[in-house]
Amino acid sequence: MQTLLFVTDLYYEAKGRNYYEEDLFLTSELREDFQLVICHPEDTETFEKDFDLIVFRNAGPVANFKDKYQAFRNRAATGLKTYNSFIGKADMNGKEYLIELTNAQFPVIPTIDTLDSLNKLPNVALYIVKPKDGADSIGLEFVTKDELGDKIDSESKNLLVQPFINFEYEVSFYFIDKEFQYALYAPDKAKRWELKEYTPTEKDLAFAQQFIEWNNLDWGIQRVDACRNEQGELLLVELEDLNPYLSLLELTDETRQNFVKAMKKSIQKALQA
Ligand SMILES: Nc1ncnc2c1ncn2[C@@H]1O[C@H](COP(=O)(O)OP(=O)(O)O)[C@@H](O)[C@H]1O
Ligand SMILES: [Mg+2]
Repeated sequence: MQTLLFVTDLYYEAKGRNYYEEDLFLTSELREDFQLVICHPEDTETFEKDFDLIVFRNAGPVANFKDKYQAFRNRAATGLKTYNSFIGKADMNGKEYLIELTNAQFPVIPTIDTLDSLNKLPNVALYIVKPKDGADSIGLEFVTKDELGDKIDSESKNLLVQPFINFEYEVSFYFIDKEFQYALYAPDKAKRWELKEYTPTEKDLAFAQQFIEWNNLDWGIQRVDACRNEQGELLLVELEDLNPYLSLLELTDETRQNFVKAMKKSIQKALQA
């Protein structure tokens, strides 16, 4: 059997989510087909050369171990086989891609990093500012137009500015490779991680799929996070191509088992590549 180094921070305290529950489930399934060892994201270097594939899962915000993450990415680029593949353009490299997608007129929450570009955003009363290397809502702030000048340092460009979107709800689309798996939404806006099954329309799927195509990963799991605005349109909030939490234990047994099957197949593909 081929070997997997399964990378997760079991006891990371994520809001509304228990990483360890998800990963204990997932590893218990994967070990049926692979020889598997669990490793903390900051400890991989000692072990990674001894495994056929490194499966990067619920690592928590990599900004918490920035240097080690960057070193890991450098090693991954020069010979380690990883899952996801690290050729993505989205969250695995920080949130900068939101500016690229805004400029290319994709349906994303309009995003800028310098006040010179303020004309690219709608004129609203309230903005949201967030760090480019943020995750798990770290550093997210509400700011009025008047306050923006003080907040945004046009030199360092380490923050993003977006209009505050008074959305109806948030919805996430989960993909393995380029195949849609399931969708979940948060009907109560105040409870981002209380998720219910969502049945996407053709149009919703086309919306999500365009970001998967744009990112063009060789293999891996991605989550397209979107919000439905007051006009009824979907806008991308985030394309999580590094370590999307999957809410596997919230799914029906059938959907969960289908996901596991698809993930095993995708890992086999990665191993053979
Ligand atoms: N522009 C925005 N307008 C309204 N709510 C937002 C906006 N950006 C983020 N949020 C809220 O904050 C949450 C976290 O933001 P997100 O961009 O996904 O960063 P993170 O990487 O921290 O998850 C979102 O799920 C959403 O509820
Ligand atoms: Mg998010």
